[in-house]
Amino acid sequence: MANVNNSGEREQWGSKIGFILAAAGSAVGLGNLWKFPYMAGKNGGGAFVLVYFVMLFLVGFTLMLAEIVVGRHTQLNAIGAYRKIRKNWAWVGALGVLAGFIILSFYSVVGGWVTAYLVKALSGGLKITDAQTLGNMFGQLISDARTPIFYHAIFMIATLLIVYGGIGGGIEKASKIMMPALFIIIIILVLRSVTLPGAFKGIEYLFVPDFSKINIGVILDALGQVFFSLSLGMGCMITYGSYLSKDTNIPESAVTIPLIDTAVALLAGLAVLPAVFAFGFEPAAGPGLVFITFPAVFAKMPLGGIFSILFFVLVLFAALTSSISLLEVVVAYVVDEWKIKRKIATVALAFIIFLIGIPASLSFGPWAHIKVLGDRGFFDTYDFISSNILLPLGGLLLCIFVGWVWGTDKAVKEASNDGQLEFKLAPFWSFLVKYVAPVAIAIVFVRSLIG
Ligand code: PHE
Repeated sequence: MANVNNSGEREQWGSKIGFILAAAGSAVGLGNLWKFPYMAGKNGGGAFVLVYFVMLFLVGFTLMLAEIVVGRHTQLNAIGAYRKIRKNWAWVGALGVLAGFIILSFYSVVGGWVTAYLVKALSGGLKITDAQTLGNMFGQLISDARTPIFYHAIFMIATLLIVYGGIGGGIEKASKIMMPALFIIIIILVLRSVTLPGAFKGIEYLFVPDFSKINIGVILDALGQVFFSLSLGMGCMITYGSYLSKDTNIPESAVTIPLIDTAVALLAGLAVLPAVFAFGFEPAAGPGLVFITFPAVFAKMPLGGIFSILFFVLVLFAALTSSISLLEVVVAYVVDEWKIKRKIATVALAFIIFLIGIPASLSFGPWAHIKVLGDRGFFDTYDFISSNILLPLGGLLLCIFVGWVWGTDKAVKEASNDGQLEFKLAPFWSFLVKYVAPVAIAIVFVRSLIG
């Protein structure tokens, strides 16, 4: 019994690679496959990629390390972790749990669309080359009253079934299957995409920075993307870190996970953009890229049917390894603090989150006229509150907490396994977490509030 335990002792990851794959699985998601190519498309291609890298170094690695350290030190869920270090900081963890709740409710709706598209791809229903027809098809799916809720339920059940199995037997096992599959599929897609005639324009677009395109908007978009894409700011990595044993090399993990996430984002760009250019589409197609432009691109390719199946399997796996981490944040809290059995907590919470997601789904159809926050419907409100308010606020507070309240000396002690491990960059990291990261995040936060 290496890692399964019902007798009150905390479960642990079965292996080092299991933790890395699970955490990278959390990070790699719709944010990489759908948002990154689109953001790069919108923000000057290579220019965006360059700024993304700068933000990744200043904020991404810094916060990743901070979250994992807090989790492993306390061996508790997001709320319990803050409370254990400073009693009156528990509310910051609560903001994270709340963010997990909200993000999962709409993430699962999109996960449902992906599931529906995988079914379409499997049944050959995506062999349409006309973007207009595909656009109508997508519009019809998401505005329907029942079908998207049905698929939202299926996606939620899949998420639940994995989390139900616990850390080693559920999340780690699923990640160990889905993440390698994801790598293989994305490499196949990249090879296909970059060997299309005319693909070079896409490659050039992704890697040649046009410095004239860099402005404050691009910088801020890149910072926001780092946050969402790395699953930071809501205690997700605190929770995953809490299942680590005391001998894990945290600094190494905090570098590896963002590197995997970034590699997948770049590979997604290499799979999407060359193909998009080769078939004469616009790179900045936005939300429709995955569901409209890409199927059209596949339909024009030899063996496109197989590639479109592979593509939606890829997106589905990426979405699932993220959704399980979102559910785990909430489940871990209820299991730790309310002493409820994991299985009961998982089913009950998944059901509640499913219900909260229903208005988000309906807001594309029958409830499109209902405005919740400004002119935002349910889906956009959930997205705005969680991604634009709760995540940056959570990240900012985490920096203040680790840098100033708990203290970087204690954090460094934990990160270096009480000095047994060499953590060379400790002074540099301390400087980043105390000064650079909070200032950078504060700027994004203020801007996101302005809108
Ligand atoms: N990182 C995930 C993605 O890129 C989304 C996510 C955000 C997951 C926050 C967990 C926590 O899709």
